[in-house]
Amino acid sequence: MKNILVTGAAGFIGSAFARYMVAKYPHYTVVVFDKLTYAGNLDNLLPIDDEDNYRFERGDIADREAVRAVLKKYDIDTIINFAAESHVDRSILAPDAFVHTDVVGVYILLDEGHKHGIGRFLQVSTDEVYGDIHSGLSVEGDNFLPNSPYAASKAGGELMVRAYHITHGMDTVITRGSNTFGPYQYPEKLLPLFITEALDDRPLPLYGDGKQVRDWLFVEDHVTGIDVALHHGQSGEAYNIAGENQQTNIDVVRAMLDLLGKPHSLIKHVEDRKGHDRRYAMDAAKLRALGWQRGSSFPEALKATVDWYVQNAWWWRKIKSGEYMDYYKRQYADRLGDR
Ligand code: NAD
Ligand code: DAU
Repeated sequence: MKNILVTGAAGFIGSAFARYMVAKYPHYTVVVFDKLTYAGNLDNLLPIDDEDNYRFERGDIADREAVRAVLKKYDIDTIINFAAESHVDRSILAPDAFVHTDVVGVYILLDEGHKHGIGRFLQVSTDEVYGDIHSGLSVEGDNFLPNSPYAASKAGGELMVRAYHITHGMDTVITRGSNTFGPYQYPEKLLPLFITEALDDRPLPLYGDGKQVRDWLFVEDHVTGIDVALHHGQSGEAYNIAGENQQTNIDVVRAMLDLLGKPHSLIKHVEDRKGHDRRYAMDAAKLRALGWQRGSSFPEALKATVDWYVQNAWWWRKIKSGEYMDYYKRQYADRLGDR
């Protein structure tokens, strides 16, 4: 690997990956390719803006000409695809963009990557492709049973990756991460939304009874998992990246409020998400066998995350206007009976 294309890396996890790769592999050129949707934010890449081995190109992974041009311009040999519409609630309100990016975009990237003769293609996927797991742990060979338009679009993207591996012999690897949290996460997802709203003493709209279980993974551990799968994963295989830390939403939110010194009474139980999956849980043994291990405990990672949002209000206050407020109202005004 020498010239790697990291798509969708102006977003939350992709930017953490780009910052990590630029520092860890100075001999790689890291080219970020991102459409800069509402979730793409160049502030996330400011820490590496001046690095010699970092480049940024704006573009859509579903735009064949743009993809072809960037592959050629930088003589790309490796693609790591983070680009996606990533928020389940938005996929319920407006699913079109999910099919465009998470299915068609993945196909275009694969097809142009194949024609260009790239080496490894790593697709960043999610535990949501397994669907609702009532007990036990999902392993990589389990069936796909996606329940939301987001999860179904990610499953569709994965199947296209499989097809290009089987049909054309492309060198592909898939990672399936669990619920990721940390600095620079767009404040529509549970933790950054609730931390930033709690800082303003606003009500926290917890869906249903709040007893849904998610497997909470610190973003730095997600990034090292992708690095291990990229360099040591076997072609054609998928690897779970699990937080191995299953907790109910209400427990996570209470722990966050305790760290902020805010009252639990900010929590408001509101109308549930449609088709809300009750539980995700994965086994990470296959990735651990490649040498991966988590570097942080949940309490430490949660504290680091809360501290980051407290100290970086400049970052999230800029986001909370315009398109963000339109979405917030659409999603929460009726539920909370306010703004
Ligand atoms: P995000 O929403 O923060 O960022 C997505 C990025 O993709 C943005 O920068 C956006 O501008 C870009 N993008 C969207 N459509 C694009 C297109 N057509 N062409 C180019 N760029 C485009 O997402 P995230 O939370 O960082 O998730 C990154 C990846 O990880 C996604 O593939 C997601 O499915 C997956 N994932 C996320 C989590 C999680 O908990 N956040 C867990 C597992 C897997
Ligand atoms: O599991 C991996 C997935 O995790 C990723 O593939 C997705 O990209 C990512 O968005 C995340 O999906 P979730 O739907 O689990 O994350 P979200 O932060 O939206 O919600 C986490 C839980 O909190 C979920 O059970 C719904 C609940 N929730 C969320 C929001 C935004 C609430 O109760 N209230 C809210 O306002």
